[in-house]
Parts: sequence; C-alpha cells; structure tokens
Amino acid sequence: MKKMRAAITGVAKYLPERVLTNAELETMVETNDEWIVSRTGISERRLVSKDQATSDMAIEAIKDLFDQTGVTAGEIDVIIVATVTPDMMFPATAAIIQNALGAKNAWGFDLSAACSGFLFALQTGASLIESGAAKKVLVVGADTMSAIVDYTDRNTCILFGDAAGVVLLEPTEDENFGLMDHMLYIDGSGAHALHQLAGGSRLPASAETVANKQHFIYQDGKAVFKRAVEGMASASSDILKRNQISGDDIAIFVPHQANKRIIDVAAQRMGLSPDKVLLNIDKYGNTTAATIPVGLKEALEEGRIKDGDYVVLAAFGAGYTWGSILLKWGPIRSK
Ligand code: UT7
Repeated sequence: MKKMRAAITGVAKYLPERVLTNAELETMVETNDEWIVSRTGISERRLVSKDQATSDMAIEAIKDLFDQTGVTAGEIDVIIVATVTPDMMFPATAAIIQNALGAKNAWGFDLSAACSGFLFALQTGASLIESGAAKKVLVVGADTMSAIVDYTDRNTCILFGDAAGVVLLEPTEDENFGLMDHMLYIDGSGAHALHQLAGGSRLPASAETVANKQHFIYQDGKAVFKRAVEGMASASSDILKRNQISGDDIAIFVPHQANKRIIDVAAQRMGLSPDKVLLNIDKYGNTTAATIPVGLKEALEEGRIKDGDYVVLAAFGAGYTWGSILLKWGPIRSK
C-alpha cells in the first residue's frame, strides 16, 4: 500500500498593527539601535492592541486561510495550536478558536514547545494525516509574547513580538509532495535557562510571584545562544545528510527567527547562499511559535517557493526543544 503523505495546502499569517521600534525601546530601557541590530538583527516588532489575545490573532490568520483556499470551518477535523501564551491556562486556545470559527466537526488541543512549537505541531498534525485519522488539520503557531515580557528588562524586551501563522495540512497520495522527514528533540536540562517560572502548579500566582516578576520571561541569553547555534545548525544540516541532498537542492530555508547570528551559522553549515534564507527578524523580532508559518507565508508571497521545491524548516527554543523538517512543496489550494 502506498504511504499517505501530509502536504501543506494553505498558508496564512496575521501581524498586529502596532509597531514597536528600536528607537521607542531606547526611551524605555538603557539600550540603543546599534546594539540591538548588531547583536540580533531586529529593527522593530509588532504588538497586539489591548483587547487582543493569542486566539484573536490566530482567528484572523485562519479566516484569511479560508478566504484564500475556499475551505470552510465545518471541513476541519483537527485544530492544533502551538503556543506558550494561550488566552488562559485552560481551556485550550484551540477550543476558543474552534468555537469562534464554528468548526463543529473538529477536535483539537494546544501544544507547548516554545519556539519549536510549530515544528512539533506540524509533525503531530502530519502523523494524524498519515495514519488516516484526519483529512484536514489546521496547524497554528501563535504567540502574544508582549503579555509575558518585562518592558523594564533590556535583556529580553528587545527580542520579542506578537504574531500568528497557520497552515492547512491534507493527505496526498503523490509521493513527490509533502512532509518528507523530521528530526525533533527535547532536552529538559535546559529548563533553567529559559522559562516563565510562576503561574503553573509549581509556583502558583501570588502577590509574591507578581512582586518578584516571576510571571515574565527569564532568559540566560548566552547559555541559550550557545545551544541554539549548535541545535539549529546540526538539525538543519543533519536532515540534508540523511536525505542525501545538499544546500544546492534547497529552494529556501525558513528558520525560527530568534537571532540573525544563529540563522547565519545554520545556513552556513547547510552550505546555503544568503538568497536561500528567509529572514524577517528585522521586522517582527522573535514571535516564538509564529515565526515559521509567518516566514513560509512571506516566502510564498515573494515567489521564493515553487511546486516541487525542497524547503527546510528549523527551530530552537525553551525546553530545550529543537529540530528540523524537510518538505517537498506541492500545490496550494486556491478558490
Ligand atoms: O527563541 C528562543 C531561543 N532564544 C534564543 O535563541 C536567544 C539566544 N540568545 C541570544 O540571541 C543572545 O544571547 C542575546 C541577543 C539575548 C544577547 O546577546 P549577547 O551577544 O549574548 O549579549 P550578552 O547577553 O552577552 O550581553 C553583552 C552585553 C552585556 O554587558 P556587559 O556585561 O558586557 O557589560 C549586557 O548587559 O550587552 C549588554 N546588554 C545590552 N546592551 C544594550 C544586554 N542587553 C542589552 C541591550 N542593549 N538590550
């Protein structure tokens, strides 16, 4: 029997309107545009408005995906939402999205893998398609990082932004298209280096946790940087090796956007020329689970992906979590 593959048949993104520039950050903390650009590659990022949460951005992206593809809410079997900034601890943001869309035939859940969340969710969705358990899966990567950033902490507030992206996964019997391979990893020995300490069962919210600023992101930037460079570079080059392809065979590399310096090392290790690397960190900063679907959408809009192209996705994030996915691009649905 032929193996059923999962293919991406639709992609959409949502970026909130409010722009936070490096110049504005200079008025908030002791920093400067030159430091931020040279150390990270970031010039500005987007932030939600006061009344927007993660589900609101995801719903905007999904509505756009439905508009582009002609797929309707009732056809969706599963909604997977990769996020570390759900609307609330429970119920799942997937449930809030399901209700808002009227996706009456869907089940779904949230998945927490930080910056690698979209890759973990994509592979999970693909497995549901490959097993025959689902025919249309929405895989969302969405994060409202501004909700957990301390805008008095220059180590972290310059890095993050808010955004949502979504892909539609469907089965294809054509072996030439779809998700071809994945290499995904988790190593909890890195939990101390990047986390949001309070608000869970270990350290429930209290006046003390708020006073201690334990509901904000904490990051040991140097420690994470070292592991991120190695994790992103090895996962992206190993997946090429395992599939006996080289950088020349890749049309585009769509990496998680945490730091331009990390991306440069990974691209170099893959033997890629700079024109094959999707970079939008300058405009959006690190939007955690949203970076890869947003990047994919921009690569399509810029005409940088054609049917039959090899595309590599890679990420590294809190956990630690990291990995890569190799895709052979297939036809996208249009109305
Ligand atoms: O997406 C999830 C995974 N996360 C990542 O992959 C992020 C990985 N880490 C990084 O990208 C980098 O470590 C950062 C961008 C966070 C920091 O860059 P760095 O080159 O590692 O800088 P650093 O933390 O070593 O800081 C160097 C100096 C320090 O001053 P001293 O101790 O040398 O006097 C910092 O206090 O830069 C200072 N500094 C700043 N200066 C101006 C730290 N933040 C700022 C700032 N503006 N915003």
